[in-house]
Amino acid sequence: MLILGVETSCDETSASVVEDGAIVRSNVISSQVEFHRPYGGVVPEVASRKHLELINPVIEESLAEAGVGFEDIGAVAVTIGPGLIGALLVGLAAAKAIAYTLDVPLIGVNHLEAHIRANFLEDPALRPPLVALLVSGGHTILAVMDESGRLTTLGETLDDAAGEAYDKIARFLGLAYPGGPEIDRLAALGDAKKVILPRAMIDRDDYAFSLSGLKTAVLNYVSKLEKQGQEIPLNDLAAGFQAAVIDVQVAKTMRAAKEYGVKNIVLAGGVAANAGLRAALKEAADEKGIKLNAPTLELCTDNAAMIASLGYEYLKEGKTIDMTANSDANLPLSS
Ligand code: KG4
Ligand code: ZN
Repeated sequence: MLILGVETSCDETSASVVEDGAIVRSNVISSQVEFHRPYGGVVPEVASRKHLELINPVIEESLAEAGVGFEDIGAVAVTIGPGLIGALLVGLAAAKAIAYTLDVPLIGVNHLEAHIRANFLEDPALRPPLVALLVSGGHTILAVMDESGRLTTLGETLDDAAGEAYDKIARFLGLAYPGGPEIDRLAALGDAKKVILPRAMIDRDDYAFSLSGLKTAVLNYVSKLEKQGQEIPLNDLAAGFQAAVIDVQVAKTMRAAKEYGVKNIVLAGGVAANAGLRAALKEAADEKGIKLNAPTLELCTDNAAMIASLGYEYLKEGKTIDMTANSDANLPLSS
């Protein structure tokens, strides 16, 4: 069974053909980053327009790369939410048109659940129960998946998402957009011990996160040095910031793994590409005999392969949608 996946929730237009939920035949990702860079963040209106321009060529390319035609597609899976509403609607309209024309099932996939699913796509031997840390431009969520695959959110950020904090700090420091990879790169060159920043909520015995205080701490640190006429130690500051983010994420993820007695942890979302986070979580997990899965970069970022793959599971459960379905900008992870 070939499923065509369509993903347009944010600033990547992506289409993919996945066989039986497991074999990625194509995964075309067209990033709009260059169009949003001048603004230092994703502009929703720009994103919607670009999706409109790109959606048909990207879908055609995904079929061509897979070496198949529309007539070979058995179902269409599309991101239904969460995300930018105008962006989501472009993907949904395209998916509806294709499913209607081909007379095949239409599947509405939860984008957050799909990010977690990317781990199963890469490692077919992976089995729940597990704890998932989902960190992206829009989300910071810690969740547990039980043996049956059911997801429950344990906690999330009370203010900024992880990627949002990275991007805002990078912008403040005059670094290129998107800021996450830039800070990650500089952090590797710096010494985190030279700039100690607050680890918000690390001692609280819940799974909530907060990143806005850390952002303020960075601003205060920089303005203090500037007042003293001192140079900003960019690498050390990046390292200090990244360590503060990672310490909290690792501490809470490991605590959740202990509380729920799981032997698997998975990383998901764009920030899961962070080298520092991967290394720190791997070290902590190894120490406890826990296996850490983290998708390759292509499957960390927004992509339609994860949508098509999870769509296959939905289809097996009979979870399809009809032509009246609407996108949901605020769809939660566990619903
Ligand atoms: O999942 P994603 O592609 O889009 C959303 O659904 O949000 O995540 C994008 C986010 C951006 O904020 C970007 O700065 C961040 O992921 N990111 C990183 C790294 N690579 C991407 N953050 C930290 N370190 C990285 N290496
Ligand atoms: Zn995403």
